[in-house]
Amino acid sequence: MRKKIVAGNWKMNTNLTEGIELAKAVNKMIEEARTEVNVIIAPPFTHLAEINKILTVVGLSAQNCASEIKGAYTGEVSVEMIKSTGAKYVIIGHSERRTYYGETDNILAKKINLALEHNLIPIYCIGEVLTEREAGRHFEVVTNQLADGIFQLTPVQLSGVIIAYEPVWAIGTGVNATPFQAQEMHSFIRKEISKKYHDAIASEIPVLYGGSCKGSNAAELFANPDVDGGLIGGASLKADEFLQIVKAFK
Ligand code: PGA
Repeated sequence: MRKKIVAGNWKMNTNLTEGIELAKAVNKMIEEARTEVNVIIAPPFTHLAEINKILTVVGLSAQNCASEIKGAYTGEVSVEMIKSTGAKYVIIGHSERRTYYGETDNILAKKINLALEHNLIPIYCIGEVLTEREAGRHFEVVTNQLADGIFQLTPVQLSGVIIAYEPVWAIGTGVNATPFQAQEMHSFIRKEISKKYHDAIASEIPVLYGGSCKGSNAAELFANPDVDGGLIGGASLKADEFLQIVKAFK
């Protein structure tokens, strides 16, 4: 049985006071919900250490990490620094990082390697842009992102990765992938892993869906056999709605 996971990506939202309040609210609701779902939140770097003190039943993630281990890289945050806050996860390769900060699959592969070496669980994001889907190239794009970002890993390493399929056209647009589109791509991702590695690993790896996932559509997305949960942006900033998404798992 694969883990069910709902992760909230707060992006560049909340100041420290607001972030602590939101984390407290989420943690309390999840505690009361007694859910078997693994719930994770990814606040900004500046909040991690403080929020780690609050969380009892919710996992903590960073939203990014440096591709170098340490040294003269002004403004960067290393995997070791993240680890020292108490965070256990790190989102790597979010489309906003790829698009606005020029992060290539090669850079992301370095980050994935570093995260795993420091016992952080990478949440590796992949997904096509609209023109790629319209041109029927979405499977090819995802194949390349898998090959260049994580297929350098050993089988043991790969089994410590969470994948998030986030079609870029669905992120923050209010237009989510249909349950059919999500299931089709998630099962394709599993087949690619199975081809490169083997069935056992492919069937173990959690593959999350991200992109305008909210309280009203989470249930139909999560009902698909290869959708193991969600990476949630906007809807993770409201504790009530985030809880609704967690409860969408039946
Ligand atoms: P969204 O973002 O839920 O606001 O579409 C998802 C994400 O970027 O991870």
